[in-house]
Amino acid sequence: MTSDLPNLPDMRIPAHVAVIMDGNGRWAKQRLRPRAFGHQAGVKSARRIVRAAHNSGVKMLTLFAFSQENWQRPPIEVSLLMGLFVRTLRRELGSLHRSAVRIRFIGDHGDFPNDLTALMQDAESLTRDNAGLQLIIAVGYGGHWDIAQAASSLCRDGLPITPQAIEARLAVADLPHPDLLIRTGGEKRLSNFLLWQLAYTELHLVDTLWPDFDEAAFAAALSWYASRDRRYGRVPEAS
Ligand code: FPP
Repeated sequence: MTSDLPNLPDMRIPAHVAVIMDGNGRWAKQRLRPRAFGHQAGVKSARRIVRAAHNSGVKMLTLFAFSQENWQRPPIEVSLLMGLFVRTLRRELGSLHRSAVRIRFIGDHGDFPNDLTALMQDAESLTRDNAGLQLIIAVGYGGHWDIAQAASSLCRDGLPITPQAIEARLAVADLPHPDLLIRTGGEKRLSNFLLWQLAYTELHLVDTLWPDFDEAAFAAALSWYASRDRRYGRVPEAS
């Protein structure tokens, strides 16, 4: 991957960035095009941001590609999105692997088409030992689902439900929580994304629609993050 980012000053880079990629439909509507056109542009934007994250030293990038609530969209849009995920994964897997990206999927994949789940498993096993950017793609994901599945697994094992025990059984239990959440598309909500893990994450909410979110916008988000004072409920050092 080549560097196509504006020069980043020597600044604090978030280890883990999570993104709610919102606004594909509105972007298409502004152009009098079908929603599918917006989702295709959304894939290009996701590709750009994966590369920008890799090039700027971010270690983990979690993208919210399909929520549990997205199942309620018209069946034609759901099947279009599933097809787009399959084609994108087939097309990008080789290049991501060559760039040492490790790919993981989180969510409830029970109702996913077989070709997609097979591809997701292939992508995970092919890239399992890669030491570069960790790319976590949340599909069929919901924060409530994640916390409930962690609690159920503790109940099954007859273990007490404590914050530490839940933490250890979340969908990506081995990764630190996101430092920075970027949400595009102007909404000011979490939409059931990583509810547990976002407790102390810095929230960067921008009006830019996802297909317009480019390397400069990503660099601006990193720069905003570098200016934040993260106190985790404590008082500032000097006080
Ligand atoms: C939000 O736009 C996007 C989605 C619901 C998911 C689709 C995401 C992509 C196609 C990006 C590609 C990602 C990967 C990892 C391949 P929206 O439909 O909610 O837009 P709207 O709010 O303007 O209607």
